[in-house]
Amino acid sequence: MAGIAVIGAQWGDEGKGKIVHFLSRDADMAVRFNGGPNAGHTVQDMYGTARLHLVPAGALRSGVGVLAHGVVVDPWVLDLELSELERQGRPKPKLLLSERAHLILPYHKLHEELSGEAKKIGTTRRGIGPAYQEKTARRGLRLGDLGDIDLVHERLEAAATELRDSFGEDFDLKGTEDGLRKFWEENRERVGDTQGSILAALEEGKTVLFEGAQGTLLDLDLGTYPYVTSSTTTVHGIGWGAGISVARLSRVIGVAKAYATRVGEGPFPTEEPGEVGEWLRARGGEYGATTGRPRRCGWLDLVALRYSCRVNGFTELALTKLDVLVGLPKIKVCTAYRLGGHSLDRFPSSKAELGAVEPVYESLPGWEKDIRGVRSYDGLPKEAQDYIGVIEEVGVPVSLVGVGPGEDEIIVR
Ligand code: IMP
Repeated sequence: MAGIAVIGAQWGDEGKGKIVHFLSRDADMAVRFNGGPNAGHTVQDMYGTARLHLVPAGALRSGVGVLAHGVVVDPWVLDLELSELERQGRPKPKLLLSERAHLILPYHKLHEELSGEAKKIGTTRRGIGPAYQEKTARRGLRLGDLGDIDLVHERLEAAATELRDSFGEDFDLKGTEDGLRKFWEENRERVGDTQGSILAALEEGKTVLFEGAQGTLLDLDLGTYPYVTSSTTTVHGIGWGAGISVARLSRVIGVAKAYATRVGEGPFPTEEPGEVGEWLRARGGEYGATTGRPRRCGWLDLVALRYSCRVNGFTELALTKLDVLVGLPKIKVCTAYRLGGHSLDRFPSSKAELGAVEPVYESLPGWEKDIRGVRSYDGLPKEAQDYIGVIEEVGVPVSLVGVGPGEDEIIVR
């Protein structure tokens, strides 16, 4: 029995897609348990580049992909994504969808825009927040409900009235209903008890990858509230969104980029708005996989990473995009915060405090040698090894190092 969790250790976009794809060589099943099509997991392989928003990245190779009940599913996005994978000539992944997973419907996206939520938080505009709001308000529509035409109609009518009363707007009720009927006809065989299927796989001794979306600092409870997403992005999301105990995990891998990025609003202590940030953005191709937005870039923040390790209990770290740093004369890394003239020994929960901290930096020498062809830790320049050594002072070993975007551009330590 082996459950392996792959969790974003920062603000998302750490390169989880690549790590999951790499690990999926030895996996039998890949599970998404949180978020929805706000995620954008990029995989580069022999078929080309796949940008996955709902289909688990690990499913491209493991053969079985699961969208567990914690995921919010936009049926139209899922349809498009499956057609795109087919167009690239990839083998069809076997997909299981939880009957308990809530749906993202067209009026959720309208609600997100009209309420001002999209702008205030800088969301991905995929209807994520409103879909989870409806779920917790106990009036959402779940995938398993689609077989009940009367229930679907009743729910859409109620949503239309709510939208009209709140914002004086309408959505295409008939088109939505027709789309949902078609989706159900085409996918009903895939919809079922995913909690049972995952548990059965684990009990048969299979390897199951749990693929986190977004990152720890975007977690609804433990992240930089209110500039967060609406789901549980940490390892605890596996219990919350797949119904599987973390006691079933043999590895909890935190994925951290060798520098830091953030999209959307919210405090970002190590942000470099000037030349360094632009350099990282250009070199690292830091534009959102879902929205195309330029990402805010800065130095690696070890205070935040230490917090992330504490919250998730990472057994190891996967460090991605180390190659992006090649050519920088000096690499800075934040080792502590100062606030009001004092050092701060915790990651603050208040947006005002996090917005006001001053990062304390250690400056390390960079290196010039291209590392994309390196496949062993010893083959890395000494400066790169020293940088990894400083990162490991958070108390968790770095077991995987990404040295390029390709599927084999990775060092296993
Ligand atoms: P939402 O998830 O679309 O509601 O957006 C809430 C916040 O999470 C915004 O700051 C988004 O930019 C951020 N976010 C959501 N999904 C991702 C992701 O996959 N990568 C990075 N940031 C994300």
